[in-house]
Amino acid sequence: MTNQKNKLDELVSFCKSRGFVYPSSEIYGGMSAIYDYGHYGILLKNNIRDAWWREMVQLREDVLGLDSAIFMAPMTWKASGHVDSFDDPQIDCKKCHARIRADHLLEEFGLNVDKEPIDVVNSKINELKRAGQKICCPNCGSEDLTPAKRFSLMVKSNIGAPTDDLSEENVVYLRPETCGGIYLEYKNTMDSLHPSLPFGIAQVGKAFRNEIIARQFVFRTREFEQMEMQYFLHPDDMKQKYEYWRAQRWNWYLSLGMDEKKIRWFKHLKLAHYASEAYDIEYDSQFLGGFKEIEGIHARGNWDLSQHSKFSGVDLSYFDPKTGEKFIPHIMETSVGLGRLFLMFLDFAYTREKIAGKDDERLVLHLDPRLAPVKAAVFPLLRNKPELVTKARELAGRLRPLYQIEFDDHGNIGKRYRRQDEIGTPLTITVDFDSLSGDDVTVRERDTMSQERVSIAKLTDYLREKLGF
Ligand code: GAP
Repeated sequence: MTNQKNKLDELVSFCKSRGFVYPSSEIYGGMSAIYDYGHYGILLKNNIRDAWWREMVQLREDVLGLDSAIFMAPMTWKASGHVDSFDDPQIDCKKCHARIRADHLLEEFGLNVDKEPIDVVNSKINELKRAGQKICCPNCGSEDLTPAKRFSLMVKSNIGAPTDDLSEENVVYLRPETCGGIYLEYKNTMDSLHPSLPFGIAQVGKAFRNEIIARQFVFRTREFEQMEMQYFLHPDDMKQKYEYWRAQRWNWYLSLGMDEKKIRWFKHLKLAHYASEAYDIEYDSQFLGGFKEIEGIHARGNWDLSQHSKFSGVDLSYFDPKTGEKFIPHIMETSVGLGRLFLMFLDFAYTREKIAGKDDERLVLHLDPRLAPVKAAVFPLLRNKPELVTKARELAGRLRPLYQIEFDDHGNIGKRYRRQDEIGTPLTITVDFDSLSGDDVTVRERDTMSQERVSIAKLTDYLREKLGF
């Protein structure tokens, strides 16, 4: 456990020192489970988001985009069931006041109490105690714990509230998942764009959950981004489309270089009453110590649109002009956290390796070039030679409209290579004295560390070929 914590601490410290992820509000003492993304972090995150959007929207005929608001009518979350039952079982330590997820505590005894009523959770705890097991606070080891109670994950705001009265009817929640906005914009999408079934609506946006336990860096945060797609269909198509989307999502991971041995399917056996299938894609994380959920793929029946139809009084049924049938569409959902994908790709790319032929090692991010924050870095061989600096700056400026490029003249060339390897830059370009007369440069590849001379006139073609886009 301690080794695992040290390992995660190593990644957290790498992310902070290299400008990927910072603890939020640090100068005021920080905010638990909230993070800010620095320059390289936002570049990597945007690249993951863009790869998802390209796959899920741009390359498809049958998926439309949406960007709905974070604040939604309070009734939305009553209809979805979140106000009444989106909660986790919580135990408090009376000694150190740590908040503990009862279901996580029970997992250590091989018990799964996911979605169990709170009295079942408490009776399992009592059974364990009667059997002589010690149930202790993971923070301080004390056995002086409260019984489990339900803790709502919904985050409240006072937006639009006329008074300080935050009674239930006045509370506008921050959305706990982005798909709520998709359900509410189903009708406007139908009325404005007239898609025929089956079709999907995709969106990327922030979601908020008052997570009890949040000690896993950007894996579980209280403010996070989701990338969700809701596919509306006739119930008869569900089985076939569900399998189709499972394959699509699996192949997306492989298309970005993921090793098939590092991911697996987890089939949910306990389903919500309206759901017919639920699978997660899990990733085997070196920093979190084992397989962790990254993405969920859920067959949700017609629960969502039926509930919103019932609570709003608006007819959300679909009329099929071909068959004359009128029905509430069923929904197949793909849902993934952008922060989790960020952590997964970083975890997968992060490698300490020996340098062939040298008694030395390097830290390198073997990121797919499409995801790499910076695509190429341009260096002058020496920083105190103005003619090299000018030429390198000019070259970087010419490449910038095409790719995210970095100019670097700090330290010596070896240190610059190391720095770029550590942020995963696939190519580095050095301008030297021969470049002034011969008009060519040295290009080094991150993964092989091989170098070759390339003429400046052919450099953009060369980059396109090497980066693959
Ligand atoms: N609309 C369905 C839904 O929200 P979920 O399993 O609760 O389902 C989907 O969440 C995905 O959102 C998860 O697989 C995970 O990638 C991400 N996610 C959920 N809670 C998160 C959190 N607190 N921090 C980061 N990502 C989270």
